[in-house]
Amino acid sequence: LAARQPITGGNWKMNPTSLDDARELAKSVAAAAGSSAAEGIVFPPYPFIGPVGEIIKDTKLNLGSQSIFFEDKGAYTGAVSASMVKSLGVKYVLAGHSERRTLFKDNDAAINKKVLKIIEGGMIPVLCIGETKEEFDANLCESVCAIQLAKDLAGVSAADVKTMIIAYEPVWAIGTGLVCPSETAQKVHKFLRAKLASMYDQATADAVRIQYGGSVTPDSVDELMSMPDIDGCLVGGASLDGEKFGRILNFN
Ligand code: G3P
Repeated sequence: LAARQPITGGNWKMNPTSLDDARELAKSVAAAAGSSAAEGIVFPPYPFIGPVGEIIKDTKLNLGSQSIFFEDKGAYTGAVSASMVKSLGVKYVLAGHSERRTLFKDNDAAINKKVLKIIEGGMIPVLCIGETKEEFDANLCESVCAIQLAKDLAGVSAADVKTMIIAYEPVWAIGTGLVCPSETAQKVHKFLRAKLASMYDQATADAVRIQYGGSVTPDSVDELMSMPDIDGCLVGGASLDGEKFGRILNFN
């Protein structure tokens, strides 16, 4: 069984608010990352992808995009295509983040189209799934995640899913300071891997890297990363501080 290389992303969301600040953050992340334990990704806002890419190009950090639209080109005001971000050096693209699902009404059908378009465009999707607080309380975490996984991965081949990243982000843990207990996250990750094995096969499921996301900080990263099915983190708030994100990449 080949060991999965840990991979951790910093999702900057709609931060920082100027190009100068984005450059500063990229420089401090690059300095703090070093030759980190985990493969690192930064996901800047669209206008900063190119400039951030220039800053990190000689580091081990990878460039990410927070989304794409699933059409190739044309009359889609405000939209950004897969080939546009690919041409800036993007390797990983988020799909299905809960903020996109809720605030921008990305549904599973659209997310599935995005996942397929990201793969067609020669990039790797980071598919985000996760249950709300109400669903968690009603013991629906696993069924909600299983449905999202099945719908969002429709038509994705085993060969492609093998290289993909799944990010388990319980909505109630995002930006709340309420990190999911590592044992609970491990249980969900294990369930997700079993679900992938039933959708594809065991070897495929064993290759997929599953990240945990939701209020990860330098204080919680080591315990999370000690879990066998947690292969990395997807970090919001703490990724806006170079030193903190560097520490998260260099987990113990
Ligand atoms: O995509 C990362 C994310 O939603 C987690 O955000 O701020 O809770 O680390 P945060």
